[in-house]
Amino acid sequence: MKATAAAPANIAFIKYWGRKDAKLRIPYNSSISMNLSASTTTTTVEFSKVFSKDRVELVEEERFSDTEIDRVVRQLDVIRGKAGKNIFARVATKNSFPKSSGAASSASGFAALTTAAIAALGLTLSEKELTILARLGSGSACRSIPHGFVRWETGNTSEDSYAHSLFPANHWDLRSVLVIVKKSAKDVSSTAGHDKATTSPLFSKRLQELPKRMEAVMRGLKEKNLSLLGPAIEEETLSMHGVMQTQTPPLFYWTDATKHIMEQVARWRKKDLPVYFTIDAGPNVHLICESQDEKKVLNALQSIGGIESIIVNKPAQGARLIKDHLF
Ligand code: PMV
Repeated sequence: MKATAAAPANIAFIKYWGRKDAKLRIPYNSSISMNLSASTTTTTVEFSKVFSKDRVELVEEERFSDTEIDRVVRQLDVIRGKAGKNIFARVATKNSFPKSSGAASSASGFAALTTAAIAALGLTLSEKELTILARLGSGSACRSIPHGFVRWETGNTSEDSYAHSLFPANHWDLRSVLVIVKKSAKDVSSTAGHDKATTSPLFSKRLQELPKRMEAVMRGLKEKNLSLLGPAIEEETLSMHGVMQTQTPPLFYWTDATKHIMEQVARWRKKDLPVYFTIDAGPNVHLICESQDEKKVLNALQSIGGIESIIVNKPAQGARLIKDHLF
């Protein structure tokens, strides 16, 4: 009754912000993302009648907070409920990036936890069912289950709010150069932020604009056309952060370094370096470019102050079971 899974984090090209059902984590809009090769979580889950309570630990790192442990236990409860088994678990988790690096993502964590726990209980689920379960732990986690470039369909019920692969990882050799400008944990979790999204006067406008932007991202990906994808993902970032900054209470995730990099990206493009920014719920910037421009982007970043670290990601496969257990 032991299994281990590895899952990637993902960067959203069309973002998930705001949900029509908070408990079931059903979003207002469909979203699209790319799995990230250098930002993975590995999790081992073992269920045993010998255990008298759940035990959740981070390997080689600082500990989980009580809130984080509660969230993991709640997801274990959902999975135990699905299997009809009332049995405690030991969970160990390891990130390929330090949890405090600012790159940490609940997406890779809940995708790995769900995949491992289901296998440890001997259940076999379809990919679609796994994405639905992972979504209950963290919305964006459902996009870390399928391969490569992934779309999460909003849906109206839990059963039709699921993620599926649009293209495999080798469809397009894109890069997400993740620039870490601030390591510390976010002051406001995205879970709390989602609940206030509709208080922004820009929220309904954003939903109206989304189909057009979604279409540009879908076509940009299909045709591997960065001059179509790039402007759409920047517009999308500004749209989501516009909502965040105008909701009540407002959420300001950017630092001076974040804004400086966003400005520089436009200058680099004028000098014929095709690169575009996208930012999730935090200050760190993902620079999206094609593989042949990766070195130029890294070079350009050398002139920027305030960078703590850089993680270069390629498109990656989704969550999978692996043989090497963490304990
Ligand atoms: O899954 P959550 O609750 O961590 O929400 C993630 C929200 C964003 O990262 C801001 C956007 C997205 O689609 O990933």
